[in-house]
Amino acid sequence: MMDSPSTLSPSWVVIIPAAGVGRRFGASLPKQFLPLADRPILVHTVERVLSLPASVRVVIAAHGDMIQETSQALASAGINESLVGIVSGGEERQDSVRRALDHPWCQDADVVFVHDAVRPLATHAVFLRVAEAAMADGAAVPIVPVTDTIKERSACGLVAATPRRDSLCAVQTPQGFRRGVLQAAHVRAHAEGWVGTDDASFVERCQQAVRCVDGEPWNIKITSPSDLHLAEYLFKEQHPENNM
Ligand code: C5P
Repeated sequence: MMDSPSTLSPSWVVIIPAAGVGRRFGASLPKQFLPLADRPILVHTVERVLSLPASVRVVIAAHGDMIQETSQALASAGINESLVGIVSGGEERQDSVRRALDHPWCQDADVVFVHDAVRPLATHAVFLRVAEAAMADGAAVPIVPVTDTIKERSACGLVAATPRRDSLCAVQTPQGFRRGVLQAAHVRAHAEGWVGTDDASFVERCQQAVRCVDGEPWNIKITSPSDLHLAEYLFKEQHPENNM
């Protein structure tokens, strides 16, 4: 029988790829260092993860030039340094995740999550849903329905296809995996030159199941200045005590 994540106190490692330079945002700092409610977005994300009801550690992949800044930001926020490892990220997001996966903490984790640095609003509930499904099925992702009609466009700018909306969904993080499943998928992706924008896609390409669980509409990825405004609003909704 499988104990529930909250009673077993499993060992979880949350990999946070944070080595991007955030060019789309247009700010001088990478977006994960921009302030949300007066503190860097990354600090909120790490604090949320470390407050999970499990034995949890965090491995951050930071840009080689930003390791010091990352460490200082966490120390200034009073985050327990013994629970956070920082590795140097790679060229692409998937290289950063692969480097973090080599951290010794990942070797004996029951579940390894990958969670975007710029999703500070994911709740404990979504981590627990993902963990339970990942333990059962090997890999799990949180999804939300898409409300827009999605089109594929061709290289010359014409519509190439309109997939049926009822089978489409937007995929968020945290994505969760039994460690061996994620490790094998990343090793194969690297060996075969697969490129992907999320980690579950490598597991899919290995013909392994990825379970979908409910995501959260407020679990937004802060990618543009307007996302940051929305995140401020949502953060206040989640923390009414900060509104006083
Ligand atoms: O570019 P995108 O928004 O998909 O990046 C998602 C996450 O991956 C960000 O948190 C970013 O910092 C991280 N990343 C990384 N290493 C890279 C590129 C992006 O860790 N080389």
